[in-house]
Amino acid sequence: MAKGRFLWMVMGLALVSYAGVPLAAQGDKVKGEKVYKDAKCSVCHKVGTTGGKMGPEITKVGAKRDAAWLATYLVNPKAENPKNKMPAVKVKGADLDNLIAYLVSLK
Ligand code: HEC
Repeated sequence: MAKGRFLWMVMGLALVSYAGVPLAAQGDKVKGEKVYKDAKCSVCHKVGTTGGKMGPEITKVGAKRDAAWLATYLVNPKAENPKNKMPAVKVKGADLDNLIAYLVSLK
């Protein structure tokens, strides 16, 4: 009996990790870092020791925000707050996924 349950557990875990891989791998954080640089986000945001001060420091934004929140926020920051000074991000498609993967990796 106990052995059977163990097998089911292993199969369950295998399924969960299999399903988790494509989700986590949606964006490429290395490419996303380049998107971040190209989009000049650092004019206003500081990551580590580099970047401007007009926006909040986002060195650890991944610890606070998840991919779903970022996906909504970045394309329309004013939806969160009409007075938001963050400009809507023009990056789209795979570049946006990569950018989000990069931001989520900042922890
Ligand atoms: C003109 C300056 C400016 C630029 C350029 C800019 N931002 Fe922002 N950003 C802001 C400001 C200001 C806020 C804070 C808005 C508020 O809360 O009112 C903000 C907020 C954010 C937040 C939310 C942080 C949090 O946890 O609350 C994220 C994430 C973010 N910006 C990412 C980006 C990315 C990625 C780019 C480049 C594609 C970018 N920003 C470009 C000014 C800027």
